[in-house]
Amino acid sequence: MELSSKSYISFDEIFSPEIFSPDILSTVTFPKTGKNPKTWQIPLENTLKNDIPYNSGRILGAMSTPPHEIAAKLYAKYIDRNLGDRGLNPGTAKLENHLVTLMGNLLGVDDSTQFGGNMTSGGTESNLIAMNLAKTLQPHIQRPNIVISEAAHYSFEKISHLMNIELRYAPLLPDFTPDMDKFEALIDDNTISLVGIAGTSALGLVDPIDQMAKLARKYHKFLHVDGAFGGFVLPFLEELGLKYPQYDFRLPEVSTFSVDPHKMGMNINPSGLFLARNSGSDKDHDQGGFQIPYLAGGGHQTFNILGTRPGAPVIAFWGLIQYLGFQGFSQIIKKSWNLTHLLQEYLSDIPQLQVVAPPQMNVLGIQFSNPNKNNTRKLNQKLRDRGWYLGHFDQCDLLRFVMMPHVSSEHLGAFIGDLKQILRDYF
Ligand SMILES: Cc1ncc(COP(=O)(O)O)c(C=O)c1O
Repeated sequence: MELSSKSYISFDEIFSPEIFSPDILSTVTFPKTGKNPKTWQIPLENTLKNDIPYNSGRILGAMSTPPHEIAAKLYAKYIDRNLGDRGLNPGTAKLENHLVTLMGNLLGVDDSTQFGGNMTSGGTESNLIAMNLAKTLQPHIQRPNIVISEAAHYSFEKISHLMNIELRYAPLLPDFTPDMDKFEALIDDNTISLVGIAGTSALGLVDPIDQMAKLARKYHKFLHVDGAFGGFVLPFLEELGLKYPQYDFRLPEVSTFSVDPHKMGMNINPSGLFLARNSGSDKDHDQGGFQIPYLAGGGHQTFNILGTRPGAPVIAFWGLIQYLGFQGFSQIIKKSWNLTHLLQEYLSDIPQLQVVAPPQMNVLGIQFSNPNKNNTRKLNQKLRDRGWYLGHFDQCDLLRFVMMPHVSSEHLGAFIGDLKQILRDYF
């Protein structure tokens, strides 16, 4: 069958293996003519077999998981929507506005608060947009800095580099919370934003954002919360009875918030949300955004870094929220939380290792009871050799687990067996 002989080829027709050219990946020239898919399907699939599948249960330290099937279906159906051109996609744009409203409601926005936001490509973009807004709102500050704890996600390094903003890191206390006296001492006239983290990348800990809010009030500062992971975990754990200092728009000082549907929201990659009080909304066009001058939705102000911007993640997440509701997500998050406890229980049986900090959400860090970076590196490598994938935070000498929805108690049981064996054989 010639590729050009029909205008439409079904998926099954394309992907029925017949012809196999094993060396296609070693070619360096851009193909001159199109090739029948049968000639490149097997190399493609064999190459992709190198990727670790989530359903193997072996990915124990990533903040990602397969999308929920409802999200995946909606995504596939509406894959052509482009929110970079809202004039062509007013329906998708309306869903985005509604999604922002629903997420604001989840994160403490009350009826009297004017706010808005956008879907983004993830926590990095949301944090970047937030810092750009903070900077734009304070044009008189020539040498801007932001104050954040040492547990900051590395996206802030990118922000610092791209936007020429000084990063001022407050050190962590032995319990891994930021030293708030030192945090306050770092604030000065050039500080454009304080940043609190609701769910640190390494340990899933929640900064004392309520105390940061007091500082924001005292010094009249912008306050951004990086809730990329925790923003879609904490509201559900609170409902289950866990207690946290307030971390979201319930604090009137919180200016902006970053939360990622592609993490515990089980939405497709990439999807983040940037939420902003008073600015960043469609209604509030005068601050911090960029005009799109020429497209069919001309005159629209955007805060996103991306120009062409996928609309399908918006549609997928909006649909998933309708499908699961708060209760459905709650069940998923409760399972992940219970697994975190099971893991902790299993680990308490292994005297060579210790849990770095009591988990506050479904993220847990371990290190050797006598901390030793070389041993941690070696353990990480031995686990990888056996096909177990944890997060390795070399700087703080820990291995990270994240109990995502694809992890089960059976996976954890098998993991602990291998872990004990490795410790016996090599340490
Ligand atoms: C706290 C925190 N902020 C920001 C990010 C960046 O998110 P993304 O990878 O979606 O850009 C992460 C990623 O894990 C994170 O843990």
